[in-house]
Amino acid sequence: MILSVYGAGYVGLVSAVCLSSMGHKVLCADINKQRITRLNHGECPIYEDQLPELLKQQLLSGRLSFTADTAHAIFEGDIHFIATGTPSLPDGRADLSQVFTVARQIAAQTRKDTLIVTKSTVPVGTGDQILALVLDEQRQVKSDFKIDVVSNPEFLREGSAVHDFLNADRILLGGDEEALKPLQAIYQPLADKGIPILNMSRQSAELAKYSANAMLACRISFINQISRIAEQFGANIEDIRVAMGMDPRIGEYFLQAGIGYGGSCFPKDNRALIHTAKELGINSALLEATESINDLQKEWVFEKLSHHFNNHLGDKTIAIWGLSFKPDTDDLREASSLVIIEALIKAGAKLILYDPVAMPAAKEILIDSTVITWSESAGDAIEQPIDALVIATEWEEFKNFSLNTLAKKLKEAPLIDGRNCYKLSNVASSGIHYYYSVGRPLIETKRQTL
Ligand code: UGA
Repeated sequence: MILSVYGAGYVGLVSAVCLSSMGHKVLCADINKQRITRLNHGECPIYEDQLPELLKQQLLSGRLSFTADTAHAIFEGDIHFIATGTPSLPDGRADLSQVFTVARQIAAQTRKDTLIVTKSTVPVGTGDQILALVLDEQRQVKSDFKIDVVSNPEFLREGSAVHDFLNADRILLGGDEEALKPLQAIYQPLADKGIPILNMSRQSAELAKYSANAMLACRISFINQISRIAEQFGANIEDIRVAMGMDPRIGEYFLQAGIGYGGSCFPKDNRALIHTAKELGINSALLEATESINDLQKEWVFEKLSHHFNNHLGDKTIAIWGLSFKPDTDDLREASSLVIIEALIKAGAKLILYDPVAMPAAKEILIDSTVITWSESAGDAIEQPIDALVIATEWEEFKNFSLNTLAKKLKEAPLIDGRNCYKLSNVASSGIHYYYSVGRPLIETKRQTL
């Protein structure tokens, strides 16, 4: 049996490589010819832990191959996984055009009874739409092969995607019992490791995926809102998080205060869910608040800097450590760093930027800016005199940086830590003069007249 996977982006590529590593024959198709050529040469186009090694290994095994010819993948494939992108449209809706195009092609070109599996994150009801357009396409081309449509959403995180696929918390299968049987067989190696497989309706699986992301985003906005209150009273959000998390009904995960969530999933999926609710006339206040709190939280760094320098940022040189939306990825989509950079450039500041892996991607976005200096290392970024250092992403490299060295380099410049990288007690004993962190007391060991 051949599994065809459409889309060699995060979800498609990781799924294809992992399915192959589970012993299946996989053909992954993408219309981006350059990407396919690179992949067939064993070059991994994304920064992702374990993926480059596993990709090479699976290509060598002969089970995995890539093609830029969608028709070939349709002809060869017995089961078709759609993993194309579903980006946000200007009104927040998910753009389903790529998903629909592939589904239509499969319906028109398959020469056998087949199964379409939606792996892309799609709004509830999309499977019904896919089924309708499959039937429409089949009518047009006079095809009467049996085509089932099921949902199999993905829960992997960037940075640990391979691990998450092969050690999932659960595998969600949505559709008719009979239609799901081949998928159950495909995932049996994971079920044998004890990973639960949940069967449900297609609509439930689609909505469960959005609900999981919306819930996680909501928790982040919740703790960020509380952190604002904590700051006003000199309370410590870390202590509050630990106290909350010990209640098993709450749990400790995804309650890390910071400068807001980014990435290709939470912002897009929450917006799409808001759109779905609105279309149905359902109040979406909670989801909207999650989004607006997150937008506000991305302004936290600029607020602290403006306050510290009495709104005079025009002549300041600010170094920023961390550009990606989270550590262990080079992805900058909806990254908080970009909001900070834009605001600082607007205020007339000069910037020194450093990220362990996201600099090439950042240079592509910020290519036109003349006020940016790119650094070779974290140390290099603070080598020359700076007025402030901002931490926008909590890379291990920054967390392990010597605070004593930092104190020497910063002199009286404030450290604005948007990701609470350091223990307050360690900062207090390091000699750092001003330390702002999210939802925790300000450390201020020396007053100066600005
Ligand atoms: C997210 C989900 O965690 C995955 O389960 C899901 O499969 C994926 O979206 C998707 O839909 O494809 P990802 O976008 O890779 O994964 O990133 P996360 O690790 O969830 O982090 C998202 C953002 O939240 C980051 O900006 C991170 O800094 C922020 N965050 C996370 C916090 O601010 N606080 C926290 O406690 C946790």
